[in-house]
Amino acid sequence: MRELPVTILGFGGMGRARAAAYANTTKYYGDCPIQPVQAQAFVLPHEAEGAKKLGWEPNLDLMDAIKNAKSEYIDICLPDSLHHSAALAAIEAKKHVFCEKPLAISLDEAREMTEAAEACPGLLNSVNFIYRRVPANGYARQLVQENAFGKLLEARSFYNQAWGGMGNGGSWRFDAKAGGGTLADLGSHMIDMLYYVTGMRPTEVCATQVTHVKERNFNVVKEDGSSARELLPVKVDDGTRVIYNLPNGGIGQLECTRNAWGAENSQGYDLYFENGAISWRYDDVNYLMVYEPGLKGRGWRRVLCNQGFAPYCHFGGGHMDGYRDFLTSQCYENMRAIEGMDPVCPIATFRDAYEVERTSVAINISHKEHRWVSLDEIK
Ligand SMILES: NC(=O)c1ccc[n+]([C@@H]2O[C@H](COP(=O)([O-])OP(=O)(O)OC[C@H]3O[C@@H](n4cnc5c(N)ncnc54)[C@H](O)[C@@H]3O)[C@@H](O)[C@H]2O)c1
Repeated sequence: MRELPVTILGFGGMGRARAAAYANTTKYYGDCPIQPVQAQAFVLPHEAEGAKKLGWEPNLDLMDAIKNAKSEYIDICLPDSLHHSAALAAIEAKKHVFCEKPLAISLDEAREMTEAAEACPGLLNSVNFIYRRVPANGYARQLVQENAFGKLLEARSFYNQAWGGMGNGGSWRFDAKAGGGTLADLGSHMIDMLYYVTGMRPTEVCATQVTHVKERNFNVVKEDGSSARELLPVKVDDGTRVIYNLPNGGIGQLECTRNAWGAENSQGYDLYFENGAISWRYDDVNYLMVYEPGLKGRGWRRVLCNQGFAPYCHFGGGHMDGYRDFLTSQCYENMRAIEGMDPVCPIATFRDAYEVERTSVAINISHKEHRWVSLDEIK
């Protein structure tokens, strides 16, 4: 089997999770055409020892890690603001690129990344909208593609977490210059999920956003290299609510917040069609709820999706999947794409992630200008 040397950029939560996923890819998927192998990891100094223990050669120089001849595939697990320069450097060095979401922190950056990637058709450009790898979501997509329920009338989705109100610490996720706020962090997943399952994106949006915690203690690095905590204004959204129109005449709504106590990683959607409905909750991740009015009585059918009819069924017989499995399935899809094989379920390309950015920009403008915004306005 061909080996593909992989470099991971960033060794925080996602970098470490991905290290495990590459180690498992060919173990789970015997038909995986390529063996990903550990090359280097770009790390901050305090992460070097941990990376080494897991078999990744630490590299403290970001650009060297990208351009270094030791790898052919760059996996970007950095804070959002660093995706743009890292991806462009990787594409220039003719490497496959897998990037975390959101693709970038501005539409201009996202467009530049997309155009650069599309100018190199032999290279992978893939974005980690990971919930595409949930078997239940793949099954939902299949049902819609088979036109099992007719026209989509109304959609509802949400992605809520609980930690935005805890203390006053300013992680990079609250810093507008480093990350994009709750809509970019969480809402982006659900914007992509709507497209993945239904093939439709909003045509017009109307939104309101809020920043509940107005100031946070951010870590500020001084010119002499020292750093200190400073109370600074927060310029990103804590919560966003959107209503939108769909190209088929249907309507929908999206909510996301990091200030929902008890919602540890609570996300899901309800899709109401002319002749039935589907509903998915991350809290019950392996099941798709299906409503078929043809059945006797009214009510939902709870379909266990870790079986042969749904994608990514490693073990068969309903053995449950979790986040680690989804990450492994994503690495498997990336290897298939590099080999030119058809996907089990489509990966999110840079183009797909750019479209998510367009929708996010429309949402932000709608809030700022208190009006409906057509996606035609967002170039
Ligand atoms: N798809 C998903 O399910 C999912 C989940 C979590 C995070 N993410 C995305 O993954 C990316 C990383 O998130 P995370 O949770 O791993 O963050 P993190 O803070 O845990 O890790 C980020 C890592 O990037 C590096 N880094 C941090 N600051 C840096 C700087 N100033 N300069 C250079 N390198 C720096 C460090 O190695 C750090 O550990 C983000 O884009 C985030 O949105 C995606």
